[in-house]
Amino acid sequence: MQPVRLTGMAHGGDAVGHLPDGRAVFVGFAIPGETVRVEVTTDKPRWARARLLEVLEPSPDRVDPPCPYYRTCGGCRLQHIAGDRQAQLVAQVVGEQLQRLGGIDAPAVADTVRPADYGYRSRARFAVDGAGRLGFRKAASHDIVAIDRCLLLDEATQTAREAAGNRWAGATEVEVRSGVQGAAAIVSRAHGRPALPPGELAVTRRGGGRPLRGDPVVTESVAGMTFRVSPGSFFQANRAGAEELVRLVRRAVAVGDHVLDLYAGVGLFAGALAVQGADVTAVEAGATAAADARRNLRALSRLARVVKAQVERYLADAVARREQVDVVVLDPPRQGAGTAAIADLARVARRTIVYVACDPAALARDARALTAAGWQLVDAVPVDQFAQTAAIEVVATFTRAA
Ligand SMILES: C[S@@+](CC[C@H](N)C(=O)[O-])C[C@H]1O[C@@H](n2cnc3c(N)ncnc32)[C@H](O)[C@@H]1O
Repeated sequence: MQPVRLTGMAHGGDAVGHLPDGRAVFVGFAIPGETVRVEVTTDKPRWARARLLEVLEPSPDRVDPPCPYYRTCGGCRLQHIAGDRQAQLVAQVVGEQLQRLGGIDAPAVADTVRPADYGYRSRARFAVDGAGRLGFRKAASHDIVAIDRCLLLDEATQTAREAAGNRWAGATEVEVRSGVQGAAAIVSRAHGRPALPPGELAVTRRGGGRPLRGDPVVTESVAGMTFRVSPGSFFQANRAGAEELVRLVRRAVAVGDHVLDLYAGVGLFAGALAVQGADVTAVEAGATAAADARRNLRALSRLARVVKAQVERYLADAVARREQVDVVVLDPPRQGAGTAAIADLARVARRTIVYVACDPAALARDARALTAAGWQLVDAVPVDQFAQTAAIEVVATFTRAA
């Protein structure tokens, strides 16, 4: 086949070019600007996926991936690209999603904030192979590559990974996490009753019940505050990334503002905004996260309260009561907030909406709904807190259209 010149990067980390017949082709482990030789592996009427055979003209941004598992493990997609170029490509992907899926012309995408290249993750979810070893799944496969050392883990989490060992018979998925205090292994999926591996690391099962060993609650520290995080509660996986998210969310909030923090987790943004002098209501549906948030925000109870509720229900009630707040902060799960919640929060927010997104495509779909409801994007700041992987976090700020 004729060489292919790659011209862009798709959401997901593949470089994109065109086949001689004009169809778009997606190529993993390549870089926009390169000319490559490929073998088509998926042939569709309008696009194709291809395996990289040879880089004929390499990009100046091509680097040697430091991880020996890189081409087998499905976790990282960008280790072959220099960090600065990854940051640039991330911003391009965000802009392209906001334009194509969000229908926003020339969206204002800021330079990517990139806290660290490696050694940043404070939690990781491992699959368990047939021999009870922890590993990650290969890309687009159910096969598991056993992995003892992951370069993305921070030091404490790598230590916890080693302490977790490789004797997890009965479990199919185990999360290893560490905080500024404490570390734990959490069995998030199992066939039946998992065996307790040897060692001293705290171990528990997700979904409650008594811990199998030790205390699996960890303490996190961000923006000068500490947060209790129970095994069933979410916390940002990159502490330096969380600092950046807090800094960006805080830009939109002034002393005395009334703020709704939707999908609040254990109270990260609610706490940071209350400390800044805002009056915050945190809405969280998860029972353990809401309980953690109550404890974490106790010292700020004059300015912060926690409502354990589904965001959709809470917003529908707020609309019925004709309630409004100055600022709505939302940090929904990967699929986004969805049409109903967006339509309601577009009415509940008076001045500003700050959307913390872990998927730029979901952000873009929700941004389209916000635009239709009379809001406009001020800026979108990519926070590349999962460097080397295809995951992208974005903080997007919206204001009422003039
Ligand atoms: C991405 S996390 C964000 C947590 C928090 N903002 C933080 O940065 O630590 C999303 C949170 O939303 C909660 N959640 C998911 N769906 C929800 C819903 N429909 N209503 C309320 N909370 C929800 C989850 O339990 C989780 O704690």
